[in-house]
Amino acid sequence: MIAKNFVVFEGGDGSGTTTQIELARRRFEKENMERRLPPLWTTSEPTDGAIGVLIRSVLRGELAVRAETLARLFSADRSEHVFAENGVIDRCSRGELVVSDRYALSSLAYQGIDCGDALPKALNEEFPAPEMLFFFDIDPEVALKRMENRRIREIFEYLDFQALVRERYKALLPWYEEKGAIIVTIDAAKAPDEVAEDVWNALKKTSLFKAAYESRA
Ligand code: TYD
Repeated sequence: MIAKNFVVFEGGDGSGTTTQIELARRRFEKENMERRLPPLWTTSEPTDGAIGVLIRSVLRGELAVRAETLARLFSADRSEHVFAENGVIDRCSRGELVVSDRYALSSLAYQGIDCGDALPKALNEEFPAPEMLFFFDIDPEVALKRMENRRIREIFEYLDFQALVRERYKALLPWYEEKGAIIVTIDAAKAPDEVAEDVWNALKKTSLFKAAYESRA
């Protein structure tokens, strides 16, 4: 099943998804002054809800849990994010464009390394595929260099692990493509402004924004 109006940003650590979601939000504000666009909701996983907060403490290495438990925490957090009142599905169905920094493919790419593929696949089966999925592709060495100034290094922020994450993303993309999601691969090594332009050009092609641009062209 595809969740219409749902867009996700995916990529390894340091690939710039968080920066780009902020730039997309700013671009939206600007464009919205010229033409009235449907509402945009930007969000992220792990969420800032109770389960997301718990996940953050695992990522910082403050709380040790089994890899399988972490996989379950991510899917529990996602369940709230997607299905709770005013969550992703509610908003997409009332005509908002929802853009999430990370989603189920993060679980398949990351948790699959420590738990094997079966558990993350089973835990994520119930979640609908997004209409559009951006994959921010970047050499993990370059990505980790970008993150050198961050104070806390999280448990997945190591080169060998990130190299595996990148390979797994590439292998997993067809899984969503088969479900009908539009896959947009972004060269995330480019300058942030150039990447932002590529992102906006693709967002304009979502069913919701496309209609708004066409009707007011
Ligand atoms: P993110 O917030 O994007 O990273 P940052 O702390 O650099 O802003 O994501 C946090 C980490 O969680 C990142 O290493 C990816 C990982 N993650 C998973 O392993 N599985 C998941 O399902 C999700 C959503 C994130």
